[in-house]
Amino acid sequence: MSNHIPVMLAEAIEYLNLKPRMNVIDGTLGGGGHAEAILEKISPGGKLLGIDLDDEAIARAKERLSRFGNRVILAQGNFRELAALRQNYFPYPVFAALLDLGLSSDQLDNPRRGFSFLTEGPLDMRLRGRGDASTISAREVVNTAPEADLARIFRQYGEDRFANAIAHTLAVARERKPIETTQALASLIVSAVPPHARRVSRVHPATRIFQALRIAVNQELGSLEETLPVAAGLLEPQGRFVVISFHSLEDRIVKHGFNALARKKLVRIITKSPRVPLLEEVMRNPRARSAKLRAAERAAGKIDLIQ
Ligand SMILES: C[S@@+](CC[C@H](N)C(=O)[O-])C[C@H]1O[C@@H](n2cnc3c(N)ncnc32)[C@H](O)[C@@H]1O
Repeated sequence: MSNHIPVMLAEAIEYLNLKPRMNVIDGTLGGGGHAEAILEKISPGGKLLGIDLDDEAIARAKERLSRFGNRVILAQGNFRELAALRQNYFPYPVFAALLDLGLSSDQLDNPRRGFSFLTEGPLDMRLRGRGDASTISAREVVNTAPEADLARIFRQYGEDRFANAIAHTLAVARERKPIETTQALASLIVSAVPPHARRVSRVHPATRIFQALRIAVNQELGSLEETLPVAAGLLEPQGRFVVISFHSLEDRIVKHGFNALARKKLVRIITKSPRVPLLEEVMRNPRARSAKLRAAERAAGKIDLIQ
């Protein structure tokens, strides 16, 4: 069972413009909430390829989507490998694709994954999970990256004005003993932020730093940038591509990526400015508050972008 509430579900479904028998790729399956609504819209006959890095997400979604039988194909992997995943698992014409970026509540709320500073847990933050030896964990980044690199990660991905001070505090602390847990890291971050700034800010000082580390550990921005032309390129003419992002840097990448594709006349942009959730949704689900949705439509005339 998933605890994740799908964000901007009605808007995503509207922009995907789904019809019975269409085949769709969900590149960020998560709890399977969007996927379930998509499968209902493409019934009868339409198939869905659901991709996620996280095998726990795949297992949960498999159960949730079992009633759709062989119309659902699930693949564990990075959407960065979309072209290969599609080729191996989904040899069908694709009429719509969705990326709903970032983390699911299932991941955030699981202390073992180390994404939240509110609960004690190991500093992991790998989307693929702890069994993944191919990527480094947040623990390794925090304890081994040069101070200047930490400061850059916090400044660039966290847009945090105390980036240098926080990086310095961590560099000094790890000399005494390695920083092992979410709460050890959170209290060091708090100690590096001047008290007056802590008082006036509505958000906990660790919020942006944890987000920045997660983005760095999973190379999230690079994956997104690479995937936009690939996903747009595999759509049938007039196929829709919807991206929901939760971070200003992500939204900027989507905006520029879509603009670049539109200049080459490969897509038509449907959302001139990003759609944001209704206040009602944010009240019901505070995790929706920073969401931005952008949609583009594949131009008529098939041009294969994948080399
Ligand atoms: C916000 S959740 C998706 C929630 C889903 N739409 C739902 O309604 O339940 C994002 C999911 O994308 C996955 N993810 C993030 N980056 C990924 C990537 N590069 N490749 C594959 N999956 C990724 C995460 O593991 C997470 O499960």
